[in-house]
Amino acid sequence: MATNQLTHKSDAVIGETLLTESEIQQRVKELGKQITQDFEGIATTDKPLIVLGVLKGVLFFLADLMREVDVPNEIHFIDISAAKNSSGHYQELPKDLEQAINNRHVLFVEDIVDAGLTLSYVSRILYQGNPESVSVCTLLSKEANRIMDVTIHYTGFEIEPLYVIGYGLDFNEQYRNLPYIGVLKK
Ligand code: IMP
Repeated sequence: MATNQLTHKSDAVIGETLLTESEIQQRVKELGKQITQDFEGIATTDKPLIVLGVLKGVLFFLADLMREVDVPNEIHFIDISAAKNSSGHYQELPKDLEQAINNRHVLFVEDIVDAGLTLSYVSRILYQGNPESVSVCTLLSKEANRIMDVTIHYTGFEIEPLYVIGYGLDFNEQYRNLPYIGVLKK
């Protein structure tokens, strides 16, 4: 077993490693530095950067990224699945979040932008809260699969349209805790 590679009970579905733990951590550091530079003097303790992540896939990326961001900030999460009503339509932005983003710079953080549906939906409802600006950061992007016209300001890695797991990304809710990103075996 390779060092630091969790493989227990996972061998049947984990294919080749796409991004190693150190490649991910290196890139996360770079993104954190870039975000810090961009919001230095803009985000203040009176007007902190509002960082928003969609559960659950973004958990590990957001936790690592935010330890590299050195400007005043607040961290919030939104659960998209809980935002659907019984007929399957999305409701409005939760009231506490709407208040939190009013007149603030918002950094929306995603694990992966695939077709762009989540990003497009969240961007739309975020504007209900009257933010001063919305920037988007994603660890992974599968541009080849895009169907929505979305703008991304910070991209960790542009990847081929493969189904990947690990570092927050799941297959049937499992494998999120792999410290690297692997391709799901067909
Ligand atoms: P989108 O809304 O079509 O851009 O898809 C984004 C969501 O689909 C992500 O937040 C993930 O939950 C899920 N997703 C898309 N591609 C993958 C993948 O390769 N592995 C795991 N989840 C994925």
